[in-house]
Amino acid sequence: MKYIIFNWKSYLNLKETTSLSMLIASFSKSKKHKIISAPNNFFHLMVQKKYPKNTLFAQNIDLHGLGASTGSLDISYLRENKIKYCILGHSEVRSNFKDNDQTVSKKLNLCITNNITPIVCIGESKSVYESKKTKKYLKTQIDNIFNKKTSYREIIVAYEPLWSIGTGLTPKMSEIDEISNYLHDICKKYSFKKIKILYGGSVNLDNVSDILSLQKVNGVLVGSASTKSDFIKYFK
Ligand code: PGA
Repeated sequence: MKYIIFNWKSYLNLKETTSLSMLIASFSKSKKHKIISAPNNFFHLMVQKKYPKNTLFAQNIDLHGLGASTGSLDISYLRENKIKYCILGHSEVRSNFKDNDQTVSKKLNLCITNNITPIVCIGESKSVYESKKTKKYLKTQIDNIFNKKTSYREIIVAYEPLWSIGTGLTPKMSEIDEISNYLHDICKKYSFKKIKILYGGSVNLDNVSDILSLQKVNGVLVGSASTKSDFIKYFK
């Protein structure tokens, strides 16, 4: 079963969100794909009410907790609204809200204690890629975020090269394959009950079948292409 994760970011209005959610809800249950989508925070409840079988994720949480923190999104809202997954450390959250591996690690612990499955994003910059230091960089990120003493239930790691997100550029298939193998390998020292390695960054209709055919790639995390019904229909 491959995970197909649609990150709608802040691309869609209510009408567009409703129409894509309805499309996903019309698919019969598949053994091949598990589809998880993230509407804008304001639309989660509407989607849940209208399409209760759709699996949703949150695009972020913060660490301020309940109380006097205007504008914050506490993890308890996810729990209470039965949102089972949450993205952590997405590159846009890292750059817009200054998250780093240490904050991601704290958010990860919050997810674990609240039974929310985290989708942890990691990825190198263009300069790291060009200097062929990708593996070293990703290993440092993994080691910063995970703790050897913690027992993790299900964890999803999304390998998203920063230079690939929203640019139309992707690593070669052989590189995605090699990095996915590598990530499975270096994650062995941690105690994960279930670990999935996804690829994300400029996934589209032209490359998605090749990426999903790679054995160690357990799925894809898709941004802009996932806002198009043609792309979504591919997983019908
Ligand atoms: P993209 O975004 O598919 O638009 O490159 C991927 C992501 O941000 O997760």
